[in-house]
Amino acid sequence: MNTRADTGANTGADTQATKGANGIEIENLNVWFGEHEDRVDAVRDASLCVPEGGSFGLVGESGSGKSTILRALTGLVPTWSGRMAVLGRDLGRRRDREFYRSVQMVFQDPYASLHPRQSVDQVLGETLSLHGFHDIDRRINKLLDDVGLGPAFRFRYPHQLSGGQRQRVAIARALAPEPRILLLDEPTSALDVSVQAEILNLLVDLRAERGLTYLMVSHNLAVVGHMCSDVAVMQLGEIVETLPVEDMRAGRTTHPYTRHLLQASLGEMAAGA
Ligand SMILES: Nc1ncnc2c1ncn2[C@@H]1O[C@H](COP(=O)(O)OP(=O)(O)OP(=O)(O)O)[C@@H](O)[C@H]1O
Ligand SMILES: [Mg+2]
Repeated sequence: MNTRADTGANTGADTQATKGANGIEIENLNVWFGEHEDRVDAVRDASLCVPEGGSFGLVGESGSGKSTILRALTGLVPTWSGRMAVLGRDLGRRRDREFYRSVQMVFQDPYASLHPRQSVDQVLGETLSLHGFHDIDRRINKLLDDVGLGPAFRFRYPHQLSGGQRQRVAIARALAPEPRILLLDEPTSALDVSVQAEILNLLVDLRAERGLTYLMVSHNLAVVGHMCSDVAVMQLGEIVETLPVEDMRAGRTTHPYTRHLLQASLGEMAAGA
């Protein structure tokens, strides 16, 4: 293995990842950082598949490679091999304009992801003009409405918003280019428990209304149980099991690590059921 990304098509025709999906296909993905003795193999031989309009969860312990999969997909990590495709198009080393329109990411921490000196109006206005929209005024109001924030929030700055309201703004920004795929990295874990459910319900509604495809990272199995139809369990850079959420809920797992995760979060599952 060298540090050049090999983006050639892989012919693992009978893997999970090839079962007729046009949303996100990842096959035999390896992602690494550094070289020689400093090299970290963050993701090893990972395959997953999210049909268009589907919702897929990635769970696993800290450092298991969940965020790295999302980052490799968005082009933030150049050192990878295997195959990644989005909306039926194979991804190479570089992402094009259409990719950056159709795939958007929502991060864990809305405090860090919003610039403190940009008002909501500026954040949304700049994103819309960057993506070539003209009816910006109307779109800003519509976006605020879509995420449950009225026009009163339009000229506020991040420090004038609660954590939940900030995350709504971050979601509005992600929706601005009219994406088809949202990559969600722990979108509620930085929020107060009381507002987590509100944001998750908003995400559920938005997916249903817009036919969005979600790939979502979470530590919380209850959250994944609520949001996703399938889940991949990661451990030490590998996907050790992929299963339908109903099987996870029912405890029908084959891998001991999945069972361990389930046992650790039985309380959460009960709360989210
Ligand atoms: N830029 C980087 N350089 C070197 N190593 C990195 C880099 N980014 C991530 N890693 C390593 O890759 C591995 C996977 O990290 P990753 O952030 O994907 O984990 P994660 O599953 O998202 O964890 P968490 O649940 O804590 O967010 C970790 O060992 C991490 O230290
Ligand atoms: Mg992470």
